[in-house]
Amino acid sequence: MRSLILLLGCLVTESTLTDPCGNYTVLEQPWRSTDCKDTDCSGQWMCDTRLGKAWYRLKSSGGWKIPEHVVPKRRCSTDFTIWLNGSHPTVGQGEVTKTVCFHGNTDCSYTLEINIKNCTDYIVYELKPPPHCQSAYCTDPETADALGLNDHSTQQSTDPDSLSPTPSPKTDTQYKMINVEVHSKMKVDDETAKGIVLKRLQQMTDEQCPGKSIDLNQVDVQCSDVDP
Ligand SMILES: *[C@@H]1O[C@H](CO)[C@@H](O)[C@H](O)[C@H]1NC(C)=O
Ligand SMILES: *[C@@H]1O[C@H](CO)[C@@H](O)[C@H](O)[C@H]1NC(C)=O
Ligand SMILES: *[C@@H]1O[C@H](CO)[C@@H](O)[C@H](O)[C@H]1NC(C)=O
Repeated sequence: MRSLILLLGCLVTESTLTDPCGNYTVLEQPWRSTDCKDTDCSGQWMCDTRLGKAWYRLKSSGGWKIPEHVVPKRRCSTDFTIWLNGSHPTVGQGEVTKTVCFHGNTDCSYTLEINIKNCTDYIVYELKPPPHCQSAYCTDPETADALGLNDHSTQQSTDPDSLSPTPSPKTDTQYKMINVEVHSKMKVDDETAKGIVLKRLQQMTDEQCPGKSIDLNQVDVQCSDVDP
């Protein structure tokens, strides 16, 4: 009996088709800033009820993150301000579900669950429309400074990147030690055995993880005899 010890490098490519980091709509709306009182920034009361449920990236001089603290009423160019009751996820946490609060009669008179993902340099939100007007998602203007955006937000709209975000594939290489025992009645040499085992492992990986493209790279194979 032969024992093959395979050190396999698994190249895991997260599918850009399903990753919201590469498929979102940019909302470049400075009027969402918590600094915007009443209708000062927009000339009219704003309402998100017609915002379709989808992934959005908030990107304007008014901020690029939903505030993690209570926002007073009549800010963000709306009456019922929407803020995040919780904190933004880290990259490692992936896609998380968080609660947003509507500031109505109380700080949190109505809530919605939204999904959030940290794409390292920016955040994407799967926003849902609020049930009634006037309510809108707020942005924290302090988070715009961190991105280096200034007040010339209209210039940002000509930025092709903000119109059609480029998907950025995430790759992650992980090494796993796999010990495979090969039982063979025929005298199969090591190279043939390695080839058969790798091919079968790749098939199993493709079956188990249909949404991902995982390539098994043979890094090192040691062969040793084991006592029967
Ligand atoms: C991007 O997301 C939208 C929904 O937000 C979806 O309809 C569309 O199929 C997605 N595009 C790709 C390439 O997955
Ligand atoms: C994403 O999370 C990392 C920690 O994993 C943090 O350093 C970074 O600031 C976050 N990105 C944003 C845009 O908040
Ligand atoms: C935020 O959510 C927690 C529950 O997770 C709740 O106890 C708290 O009252 C909420 N904050 C506000 C200001 O309502």
